Amino acid sequence: MNKVIKKMKEHVSVREFETTPLSSEEKQALLEASQSGSSSNFVQAFSIIEITDSRQREALANITNSAEYVKNTGTFYMFVADLYRQAKILETYQQPLDAIKNMESLLVAVVDTTIAAEDMTVAAESMDLGICYIGGLRNDIKQVANLLDLPPFTVPLFGLSVGIPKTKNQVKPRLPIENQMSENTYDREKLTDLTDYEDITRQYYGSRTSNAQETSWSFKNAEFFGEVRRKEVAIFLKEQGFTLE
Ligand SMILES: Cc1cc2nc3c(=O)[nH]c(=O)nc-3n(C[C@H](O)[C@H](O)[C@H](O)COP(=O)(O)O)c2cc1C
Repeated sequence: MNKVIKKMKEHVSVREFETTPLSSEEKQALLEASQSGSSSNFVQAFSIIEITDSRQREALANITNSAEYVKNTGTFYMFVADLYRQAKILETYQQPLDAIKNMESLLVAVVDTTIAAEDMTVAAESMDLGICYIGGLRNDIKQVANLLDLPPFTVPLFGLSVGIPKTKNQVKPRLPIENQMSENTYDREKLTDLTDYEDITRQYYGSRTSNAQETSWSFKNAEFFGEVRRKEVAIFLKEQGFTLE
């Protein structure tokens, strides 16, 4: 196994950071890495907003359930799925905006943004920094958009805390490869037979050093998807100009 893969397999979300700010060289390296990924049709449909203002950071932190590690970290980036640039181009070329409004274009922007964030993550971890994605900002997506003064055709997808880890959790055991890899067609039985993973995760949750629990991955999923969450996200997307069709 090469060094990059070894490092990737050591990934854990960090939820306690040193408050040491990242240097401008470190930030430049992270941003350049995040720009290096593939992009559907090279539309580069994302923007990154660094939150440097402490009141702005506090306001964003209050929306999440992860306030401590939004406020106290090396830096905090917001990842925004962004087709506003394309809207401006279309206006300049006096073309209708229909093609950026549909679900396919929204998916393209969401995928581009996620690739950029994960490239930043891999770069950060290669520099022995830690990260935590903060999707908790979608607890109030509208307020986040207002705080960031976002234009139409943009979506604040998640934040990324990046900094020097103060503490680190254990690596969480992933699904067995057999549960996520099939050949030629979708093997319904193999991909959903969670017998082994049930044991693995019971053991993991029961014995982990912090927040040990008697539970399993499938139980957690049943619990999580037992409730329809964040219905207002679809309303927000429509307000931003997307048709969802
Ligand atoms: C898009 C996204 C949003 C997330 N949002 C949060 C969050 O708001 N707060 C948090 O503590 N962790 C958040 N996480 C981290 C996940 O909980 C974490 O990745 C998962 O439990 C697996 O743990 P690991 O990253 O340590 O392997 C998020 C992860 C992703 C990919």
